[in-house]
Amino acid sequence: MPSHAVPTDWLIDALALRLSRHASLPLGQQLYRLLYDWIQRGELVAGSRLPASRRLASGLALGRNTVLNATERLIAEGLVIARPGAGLFIAELPTFSAPSTPITPTPSRYSNRGLALLDRCGTLSPHHQAFAPGVPGLDLFPHDQWQRLLRRHYRQADQDWLTYQTQGGLPALKRALCDYLTLSRTVRCRPEQIVITQGAQQAFELIAHLLTDSGDSVWMEEPGYGGAQTSFMAANLNVVPVPVDAEGMNPALRPADAPSPALIYVTPSHQYPSGVTMPLPRRLALLEQASTQNAWLIEDDYDSEFRYDIPPAPSLQGLSTDGRVIYVGTFSKVLYPGLRLGYLVLPTAMADTFRLAHARLHREGHYPLQAAVAEFITKGDFSRHIARMRTHYRQRQACLRLALAPAVEAGLRLSSGHAGMHHAPCRRARKPATGSDTH
Ligand SMILES: Cc1ncc(COP(=O)(O)O)c(C=O)c1O
Repeated sequence: MPSHAVPTDWLIDALALRLSRHASLPLGQQLYRLLYDWIQRGELVAGSRLPASRRLASGLALGRNTVLNATERLIAEGLVIARPGAGLFIAELPTFSAPSTPITPTPSRYSNRGLALLDRCGTLSPHHQAFAPGVPGLDLFPHDQWQRLLRRHYRQADQDWLTYQTQGGLPALKRALCDYLTLSRTVRCRPEQIVITQGAQQAFELIAHLLTDSGDSVWMEEPGYGGAQTSFMAANLNVVPVPVDAEGMNPALRPADAPSPALIYVTPSHQYPSGVTMPLPRRLALLEQASTQNAWLIEDDYDSEFRYDIPPAPSLQGLSTDGRVIYVGTFSKVLYPGLRLGYLVLPTAMADTFRLAHARLHREGHYPLQAAVAEFITKGDFSRHIARMRTHYRQRQACLRLALAPAVEAGLRLSSGHAGMHHAPCRRARKPATGSDTH
């Protein structure tokens, strides 16, 4: 390692010793990294002069541009100073004494809301083994085709997409989604009613921000989806657990002292996590209940594409006659969760407000990605992918049922398995008091 005020030749020798033509990091970046580290550690002393770029280039057998790129970056970052006519000098860095022990944030630094949120973060795991609920069969995703599509859309991205967007999502994607939702999900909408979000999670957050005040109540399925519950708790809402029976959320079983809700959150196509599908009479009763309570009904239709031997149940949004259903969808199950694309279908009168609030609060983006998804839908690849995955999930379910047959004989009851990607035992093993989480 070079010592203080290193003579030029020593520095070149020290660099030459460490630069490796076999490393994966390009030589220019290695040069930058070495100089950066030595300057940061004070091994190259403030005020000392660096060899001229020609000298460095010839001494290290590097192109001059490679050397210039590295030194220009150090200049831009303030580690090296260029004195016109004199050369490059190591800058004086502000002294910073690192604390002897790492700082661990104390609980008192967080708000109560923050602490409640942190409490729920422990259930998240990046590891997905077999049987992780809510994670699609990514091994069957048409990865190569998708990469080609993405590459093309990023290459031909519209110049206008580089700036801030306020359209509530790429119009082409909203049109494609609108056609798809109208046909397959009996959702009644026009493209202007759609706001594209970064997944359903952001949609819940937006709903909570715009339609509730701190302390308002939200009725949630019990057991229910922890992701939505986290958003509502983070917005300081009072989460009221409403039991789920064989037909989904049953408001008649709510706690006697349940306050009137601002929101009612349900997963009627495939209740999460029990897997039951809400029949039509219960849907109509729930719509009636939302009207009586003057509440917004949030229909989370996260994986309804996967139905096996039953016709699709009409969406609450399509059944509603008084425009109080907010439909939330996601591409996390039908494509992949890392895509982070979801959407809201809003009552017409609210769509503009949501669009503007979304642009203010979250900032929109990723239009080339949205263009790729739009093309995937309009060219029929989306429907083909869903059909393929449906067959696949049906087979997986059949295998699981076969394997569980002895347990079923011994008394285990399984949900019908008519829909969705996961299938839960009907008997509740333990109470998921804080909502059951996938992500
Ligand atoms: C009930 C439910 N809703 C929504 C989602 C998807 O959320 P996101 O779009 O944020 O990935 C999931 C994911 O597991 C879920 O289980």
